[in-house]
This record gives sequence, C-alpha cells and structure tokens, in this order.
Amino acid sequence: MKTAFYSTRPFERTSFPAANTAHGHALEFFAEILTPATAALARGAPCACLGVADHAGREALAALRDAGVRLIALRSAGFNHVDLDAATALGLTVARVPAYSPYAVAEHALALLMTLNRKTHRAYNRIREQNFSLEGLMGFDLHEKTVGVIGTGQIGEAFIRIMLGMGCRVLASDPFENPRCVELGVRYVPTAELWPACDVIALHCPLTPQTRHLVNQAALGAIKPGAILINTSRGAVVDTLAVIAALKSGRLGGLAIDVYEEEGDLFYRDLSGEVLQDDVFVRLMTFPNVLITGHQGFFTREAVAAIAETTLANVSGFELGTIPPANLVTTGHVVSSAPRE
Ligand code: NAI
Repeated sequence: MKTAFYSTRPFERTSFPAANTAHGHALEFFAEILTPATAALARGAPCACLGVADHAGREALAALRDAGVRLIALRSAGFNHVDLDAATALGLTVARVPAYSPYAVAEHALALLMTLNRKTHRAYNRIREQNFSLEGLMGFDLHEKTVGVIGTGQIGEAFIRIMLGMGCRVLASDPFENPRCVELGVRYVPTAELWPACDVIALHCPLTPQTRHLVNQAALGAIKPGAILINTSRGAVVDTLAVIAALKSGRLGGLAIDVYEEEGDLFYRDLSGEVLQDDVFVRLMTFPNVLITGHQGFFTREAVAAIAETTLANVSGFELGTIPPANLVTTGHVVSSAPRE
C-alpha cells in the first residue's frame, strides 16, 4: 500500500525500507511535518505514517482524508498528538506501535543515572585535557539506596529489574500494581510517601492530565535533600521551572532528562549554528549536575527495527482487516481512549 511518511528522520529512511522487504509497500518519505498545508503530500496514498512531531489535529486529518488517506499509521506508542474524535468522525483508522523495546529506554535511564552519579561525562572531558584531578567527581554507591519508580509498566518494570540487580530497594507508585513487580519485592506507596524516602526517583509513567507537572514545587519540597531525578517519560511530567528552582537551592541533587516540556522546538535537529531562543532550556544546560539527552531513549537497533516492523505490519493488517486490537486506536469508533502522550 502506498504510504506517505511525515517528519521522516534519516535513520527511518534505512530502517523502514529494510523492514519493508517482507511487506512490499510503496514508501514515500517526506521531511515535512504534517500540517493542514502539507497534508496534500499524501495525495494518492491510502496511508499516512506519522511520528510524534506530527500534530494531527482536526484540520490536518480532514485534509489527509480529502487527499485519499484512510489509515493513520503511528510509529509511536503514544497517540496524544492525534485528535481521535476527529479521526473517528472522519472514518479514519488509527494504528500504533504499543511496544517495541522497554529495555532500550530502561537501559538509557540507567546510563543517565550512572553518568550523572559518577560524572563520567566530566571525567571524559577532563582526561582529554590531561586533567587527572578527582576534585568534584565523587559519586555514591547505588547499592542499598532507595529508588522510587513512578509508573511500573513495561519500561518501569525493566528499570526496576536493573535497579534490584544493583542491590537497590525499590518503592513504586502506579494506580495499577504490576504483580510481577510485587513478586520482586517492590512496595507500592502513595507519592507523598515516595518523595521523601528515595535517593533516586525515575519517571516511567505516560503524560496524562493526572501526571502533567506531577513533579512540581510541592513534590520537590518533599523530596529527600540531594535526591536525583531521572526523566525518560515525557517532559511535561516535570514542571521545569520548579525543577530549576530546586536545583538552584540545592534541594535537588541532580537531574537527568531525555525529554523536555518544549522539546518539539529543539530535539531531532542540528541547531549548532543557531541562537537558542528557549531561555529555560539554556538555563538547564548551565548546571553542572544536569545531564540532557535529546529523546534518544528508544534509539537502539532493536527498538528501531521493531518500530518499523510493527508499523508496516499494521499497514499490511489494514489491507487484510487483521490489525491486532492492541495496536488499534480507532477504527471508525474509539477503541482505546486512555489519554497519553
Ligand atoms: P506502559 O503503558 O507499559 O506503562 C505505563 C505505566 O504508567 C502503567 O503501569 C500505568 O498504570 C502507569 N501510570 C499511569 N498513570 C500514572 C500515574 N498517574 N502515576 C503513576 N503511574 C501511572 O508504558 P511504557 O511502555 O512503560 O512507557 C512509559 C512511558 O515512557 C511512555 O508513556 C512514554 O511517555 C515514555 N517513553 C519514552 C521513550 C523515550 O525514548 N524516552 C520511548 C518510549 C516511551
């Protein structure tokens, strides 16, 4: 089936054709982000394939439908960027990739934590300058420390297993207890109990109205002084201004993020020759105890290959009427409406 890809990143021009040898779809790659104006690029393609940067509002969806699109194939788990009511009203099917590699993100969270704690990024630069001083590089043993995990789904569970392997105690918060985590000895507590008890707090929940700014001024006022916060979930789970205040006061001992509230204007492009306009982000970059990566938690060979395979299998499934229910977001009526980003 002819499929028009919006906001295509360079690696996707390799991973999708590789997976497509088993499917034989006609893939058309566009760098353009989906807007009502760029929807016409999909003319003649029954499928539009969207990334998280593509905001599929009512107008853009209507323009896609007018161009002949019937399937929106998301190459992400989240679908907050799609107006599902509009898609349903327009009779568009929306499919997603509910899971690819939880290990990719959990292992990236570990990398962030280890780097921030043991300051290997600073050591790397120092050694290249022939500065062998250890001043300022002291970390702490993770062994026997308490780690708080918010959200114990696929990624949260994978991260918990890693932390338990390092000899940590784990407290968790999630409206739904994961029985496998309970079996591992994880204790579920309300966030009010989790904040002050943890040396490390890792966020692995989706962005929903309930989790937006979950880590706010009140939460940061309750954390153990010097605790480290790791966020690989979604930027807006954290109130960035409150976090900056907590870093300035020293209450928050360190911050490592793979996601940022306003990342849409920054991440996934080379802005090295530009003047950054986001003063909040620039302030974050000045802290010695802040580590930022540009939404690369998912970026492993295995995860990228799995995203391409499942997305194209959804396109094939649409032709045959066999898209797995877990991958279907809408099919003329809304079948999955849990808000997440
Ligand atoms: P999942 O759906 O398997 O697990 C999410 C868990 O969060 C569920 O157990 C759910 O009950 C829980 N949750 C929902 N509301 C909550 C709340 N108010 N408080 C605490 N827990 C809550 O999702 P998965 O695959 O583990 O992904 C988690 C998140 O990781 C995604 O929603 C996404 O935001 C982020 N992610 C980040 C990536 C990256 O590259 N940095 C890549 C993939 C996902």
